[in-house]
Amino acid sequence: MQKLKPFKIGPITVDPPLILAPMAGVTHSPFRQLVASFEKPGLFYSEMLSAKHLPHDLRKNSLWIQRTEIEHPMAYQIFAANADEAAVGCVELQEKNPEIIDLNLACPAPNIATRRKSGAYLLSDLGLIAEILSAMKEKVQQPLTAKIRLGNKPDLHFLRDLSAVLEECGVNAVTLHPRLTSEKLKRRARWEYIGYLKEMSSIPVIGNGDVKSKEDCQKMFAQTGCDGVMIGRTAVQKPWIFAEICGEKQELSNDFLQSAYHRHIGLITNFFQPQQALGRIKEFTWYYSKNLRFGHRFAARLQSIRTFHEGLEFIAENFAKTL
Ligand SMILES: Cc1cc2nc3c(=O)[nH]c(=O)nc-3n(C[C@H](O)[C@H](O)[C@H](O)COP(=O)(O)O)c2cc1C
Repeated sequence: MQKLKPFKIGPITVDPPLILAPMAGVTHSPFRQLVASFEKPGLFYSEMLSAKHLPHDLRKNSLWIQRTEIEHPMAYQIFAANADEAAVGCVELQEKNPEIIDLNLACPAPNIATRRKSGAYLLSDLGLIAEILSAMKEKVQQPLTAKIRLGNKPDLHFLRDLSAVLEECGVNAVTLHPRLTSEKLKRRARWEYIGYLKEMSSIPVIGNGDVKSKEDCQKMFAQTGCDGVMIGRTAVQKPWIFAEICGEKQELSNDFLQSAYHRHIGLITNFFQPQQALGRIKEFTWYYSKNLRFGHRFAARLQSIRTFHEGLEFIAENFAKTL
């Protein structure tokens, strides 16, 4: 693989140019620590945080906002429906000294896009995006980034207009997950649009979508010219993916798979309250079980367990049998 070239988002150096994607319910502090135990990506993300609820969440010292010393640099991602919400969220976040603040313009989930008129919903109103970003820029010193999708149809004119708005508002880098809003995570990501965006942008472009291996990562850099590659689901299945991209292919021995899984269960257990921990373990296990010979059955059976202690017992009795 060609040497990975670091890039900058404002004063923040992203080295290696590999980014752990924001994933609601998954990219919490224990998960970021697990990933970092193999190899630190050049940039971590929080999961998306409601800008409107941040004052309340910060007062409660919400676990979703916490991070350790190792989880640096990190972009805190917010979603907001209007400029006021976004501005309040940015100001409140200062307490956490975020290196970067990211605006979610990509989430198609009904709860965010339809009900809260945030995330990918905002792609239908470039004027509103400009208002929100300008309000954020006015309130904070940190670099701002935005994570976008293609919108309602693959349309280069729209991408050009959106990219111009982002740059005019002083956004320091943009991540493109090149699927339509309606596609959620279906169909293939249209990487060619990452290349088009790179050509029309004067700020760094981060490509995202369907990177499943070191070879895919290499192809995304080569085919699109993007500055950074963001990885989501594959990092949950293989928390060592950044180590693999930066070095050698990982030998997936039974001991290795067992030790990584238990390490994460331990981190989650020490961090969350028991019932919350069970939910996080279930979600992680769906992805991780793809590495295991009998993983699907194991993950499916785990989903029906109701209490944390039963969950731990089930794992202790059954994990080794999945290998
Ligand atoms: C469980 C899950 C939660 C996600 N949550 C977020 C989120 O909070 N904010 C966001 O911008 N994207 C979110 N995404 C989208 C990912 O960041 C990423 O764009 C998408 O999964 C495509 O990348 P991948 O193919 O590497 O997974 C989420 C994806 C998944 C699977």
